[in-house]
Amino acid sequence: MKNHDIVAISGGTSGIGRSLAESAIERGSRVVVSGRRGDRIHAFCETHSTPVPRACGVVSDASDSDHANRIFDESQRTFGATPTAYVLCAGRGLSGTITTSDETQWEELLRVNLLGAMRQLRACAERFNPSAKTSTQVRDIVVIGSTVGRVISAANPVYGATKFALHSLVESLRQEMSSRNTRVTLIEPGFVKTEFQTRAGYDMERFSQMEQEQGPFLAAVDVVEAIWFVLERPPHVHIDDIRIRPTRQRV
Ligand SMILES: NC(=O)c1ccc[n+]([C@@H]2O[C@H](COP(=O)([O-])OP(=O)(O)OC[C@H]3O[C@@H](n4cnc5c(N)ncnc54)[C@H](OP(=O)(O)O)[C@@H]3O)[C@@H](O)[C@H]2O)c1
Repeated sequence: MKNHDIVAISGGTSGIGRSLAESAIERGSRVVVSGRRGDRIHAFCETHSTPVPRACGVVSDASDSDHANRIFDESQRTFGATPTAYVLCAGRGLSGTITTSDETQWEELLRVNLLGAMRQLRACAERFNPSAKTSTQVRDIVVIGSTVGRVISAANPVYGATKFALHSLVESLRQEMSSRNTRVTLIEPGFVKTEFQTRAGYDMERFSQMEQEQGPFLAAVDVVEAIWFVLERPPHVHIDDIRIRPTRQRV
């Protein structure tokens, strides 16, 4: 079932967001992607520009207060309509514990994973709210949380803390929006092989060892399939929380 003609993806320049953007186009939807790497956004939009534009994008930091609004506005400008699904993929990791992680990264982590997400959630709720009251079409807000936002991790508690907080906000917004034709969904992936690990400063030798013990790890497309499963349910059905891990991942 195709519920969404236009899908917005915050953090669409790599990993899960990028894979989702590609599959959305393959499935016949149009997409609006965001991220800081303008070269990637421009190249993606260029690839899908003819015969009619199927992709547009916004170069922006996800913690900017106008991030989500710019995405909606760009969609209106390019497609003459706004998205009915917003998938919040923008986020980053940080390796280490309270005592071992790089303290100079803490503020940026909180700014993107938490404050930025809060601002995007509010903007989406505001944008979806007026039309959701009258329309029979369902709206979707899908947020990528994490397994370490559900199960306390000895290895990754600082990043995990941002996801614990995010999970709480997502469930709260789900309750608030449930009467307004808007489904708010949490996806909680375990290990997914993307740029996430190198950008979070993981020890890649250790990561490969872990994959030998507990892998194969997920590919971005595995998570994307779970997202589509949510987006394509009939409007009266809401799968509101999916935890998806590699079969051999222990915690
Ligand atoms: N990979 C995993 O094992 C894993 C597991 C559980 C949850 N997750 C979550 O899944 C989500 C996507 O991660 P991924 O694995 O796909 O990693 P990724 O390949 O590194 O992608 C992260 C995306 O977020 C964007 N982003 C990061 N910081 C941003 C900022 N300040 N402003 C705007 N965009 C920003 C990046 O775009 P730019 O750099 O171009 O800005 C990129 O598009 C994240 O929320 C992550 O926490 C990942």
